[in-house]
Amino acid sequence: MIQVPQNSSDDCDEPELNKFIQTQAAKHMKAGISTTMLLQGSVLLSNDKYPICAFYTVAPSSISKKKLPQALAGKLPHYPVPVFLLAQMAVHSKYHNHGLGKITLIKALEHIWSINSHMRAYAVIVDCLNEKVERFYLKYGFEILYKHEGRTRMFMPMKTVARLFECLGFKR
Ligand SMILES: CC(C)(COP(=O)(O)OP(=O)(O)OC[C@H]1O[C@@H](n2cnc3c(N)ncnc32)[C@H](O)[C@@H]1OP(=O)(O)O)[C@@H](O)C(=O)NCCC(=O)NCCS
Repeated sequence: MIQVPQNSSDDCDEPELNKFIQTQAAKHMKAGISTTMLLQGSVLLSNDKYPICAFYTVAPSSISKKKLPQALAGKLPHYPVPVFLLAQMAVHSKYHNHGLGKITLIKALEHIWSINSHMRAYAVIVDCLNEKVERFYLKYGFEILYKHEGRTRMFMPMKTVARLFECLGFKR
């Protein structure tokens, strides 16, 4: 995986995400507000660039404890709860349904898990653009929280992420 370079361009079948990777990802990294990582293909294109097959963006964020399920919120303090936001994640439309979404999600969660060893946060949240994407995250254990700016906000506790990588024998 590499960090997004300037002048990246790609098509992930979702106009909002295409705009993000083409015009905003590098600027946001330069501004210090998020990190975007690319999964690149290994075969050079005719323009001498490697294709972007998938990408994800992570950023620190926070959530009101009132928005978390009652059973979890009870033990938390009354100020905003720190979380990691999986702000964007997409696979190029050419590579859908070949397992790359799963790999990209694992890479993103591994990245977040490794940050969490230095700077703790309570959960990973993701804002889903549509029901199709919701179903993808439900499949991997994310839970629906609430509607947020027209998207469905979902979450996974950091403890669940940690258990996943510890069970798989990952080292950080
Ligand atoms: C959602 C997305 C990332 C899935 O990527 P993908 O590479 O097609 O998914 P994969 O091939 O890795 O699928 C992995 C598993 O999830 C399942 N899956 C994929 N999309 C699914 C969906 N919409 N609903 C339910 N399951 C889904 C697959 O069947 C597969 O299951 P299996 O391992 O049991 O066979 C991709 O469709 C995408 O980039 N969409 C456009 C961008 C977007 O909207 N991103 C989300 C922004 S929040």
